Amino acid sequence: MKKGFVFDLDGVITDTAKFHYIAWKELAESIGITFDEVFNETLKGISRMDSLDRILAHGNQENKFTPLEKEALAEKKNDNYVKSLEDLSENDLLPGVHDFLLKAREHQIPCAIASASKNAPMILEKLGVISFFGHIVDPDTLKKGKPDPEIFIKAAESIDIKPEDAIGFEDAQAGIEGIKKAGMYAVGISATETLIGADIQVASMTELDIELLVSSK
Ligand code: G6P
Ligand code: MG
Repeated sequence: MKKGFVFDLDGVITDTAKFHYIAWKELAESIGITFDEVFNETLKGISRMDSLDRILAHGNQENKFTPLEKEALAEKKNDNYVKSLEDLSENDLLPGVHDFLLKAREHQIPCAIASASKNAPMILEKLGVISFFGHIVDPDTLKKGKPDPEIFIKAAESIDIKPEDAIGFEDAQAGIEGIKKAGMYAVGISATETLIGADIQVASMTELDIELLVSSK
């Protein structure tokens, strides 16, 4: 029996992935770099600074900016991103998420958030679901980002669940890799990408049966 749930945020609880994309695209274009949705896929689950590094490398500008200038670029992207979330509300929860969290609560299954986003607490507050989570891992406390398993191991520990008794939910390839390296059962959520290594994949949370899921090996 599985005893705890660890959720990614962007693309699992809410579709902020599109707002990240728009904000990064705007910043990248302002410095002469273009990229498309295919490249954007490689940024999912990746921290803000690592995403900026990947974008700069993509545009052959990896040595163009000082660390301070890079900080300013990342801040500019984040300011635009946060502005685009101004009207975020419970209507922006992805399909099936609210019901799933309610059922987890009914079954007394503890839940934690393992997101690389420093905006996670603010986003969960706006979505009206912060009270469902026993812990939100602070990405500033991590040595390594996804696909390293550290964030998932910390999330499971924070709700007193062994990784092998936990289920991780992810929409990004880097996240699925981290969940599997942590020794957890991985639920991939994506209607468009094939998530390699996921134990099961669904297009949305509406397809998940919590009783069946917790009885997974
Ligand atoms: C998530 C998203 C990434 C984002 C990262 C950091 O993992 O999938 O696209 O870059 O969080 O988010 P932040 O809100 O801290 O910039
Ligand atoms: Mg995600």
